[in-house]
Amino acid sequence: MRPIIRIDVELLRNVIPTGCSSLDGLLGGGIPIEKISLVYGEAETGKSTFAIQCAVNCARIGYKTMYIDSDDTFSTRRLSQIAHHDSEKVSPSIILVKPATFQEQALAIDHLDEYMTKRVGLVVVDTITSLYRVEIGGRRETFSLNRELNRQVACLAQAAITHKMAVLITSQVRSAFADGTVSLEPVATRVLKFWSDPVLDFKQTDQARVMKAHLEEPSKRKQAAACYLAVEKSGISNYDR
Ligand SMILES: Nc1ncnc2c1ncn2[C@@H]1O[C@H](COP(=O)(O)OP(=O)(O)OP(=O)(O)O)[C@@H](O)[C@H]1O
Ligand SMILES: [Mg+2]
Repeated sequence: MRPIIRIDVELLRNVIPTGCSSLDGLLGGGIPIEKISLVYGEAETGKSTFAIQCAVNCARIGYKTMYIDSDDTFSTRRLSQIAHHDSEKVSPSIILVKPATFQEQALAIDHLDEYMTKRVGLVVVDTITSLYRVEIGGRRETFSLNRELNRQVACLAQAAITHKMAVLITSQVRSAFADGTVSLEPVATRVLKFWSDPVLDFKQTDQARVMKAHLEEPSKRKQAAACYLAVEKSGISNYDR
């Protein structure tokens, strides 16, 4: 008689596929569990589309997503366009939280554990720095806000490990000046990059609706450093140039 081989699906779940093969290739299969993935880029480069697409694919492998919509831009219409024929199946798998202030975002992150009994495979915070930016004012305030942002991201990093789930955070960019050159860095770069791996940046190309996704420090993984993406009604897909 043949031995019965039990495959533990939990052990296989070490990434959440993004639904875009070139991005999955860049990331080594998808966004990793037990880690924070950071996606940053200018407005309309596809960060929220990417986050929704990851939530859809998380639902397709049987896990829920807690989606902290700090930008208040999550739309069920966009979700159904991306989930397409799975949209009725996918919608109940998304727990939507809409903080209106940076303090409410902190509460949502501090109370993550209360949701974690419900097979959550992914936590999204889109955009993690938008409510923080609303509060930025004087120098002293900036120091305490940075400390609070650091605390929130540290909580997310801990929750990713404790609950064996993936965390995806998005950030806008700001111009950084160094050695006479200007580059775009995520807002609160040091805090976000300290806790995140992988870090992806999305850039608009000279073609409409085509972005270049660039993986920072690809040498850590020995994978390709960049790929091109088409951002369309149905979500993000490969773009061959
Ligand atoms: N329903 C849709 N059909 C077609 N394209 C869409 C649709 N919704 C959004 N897009 C396009 O997808 C692109 C990316 O939008 P998305 O909201 O994902 O960007 P983003 O990086 O999150 O922007 P922001 O920084 O403003 O939050 C935009 O060019 C937008 O016009
Ligand atoms: Mg967005």
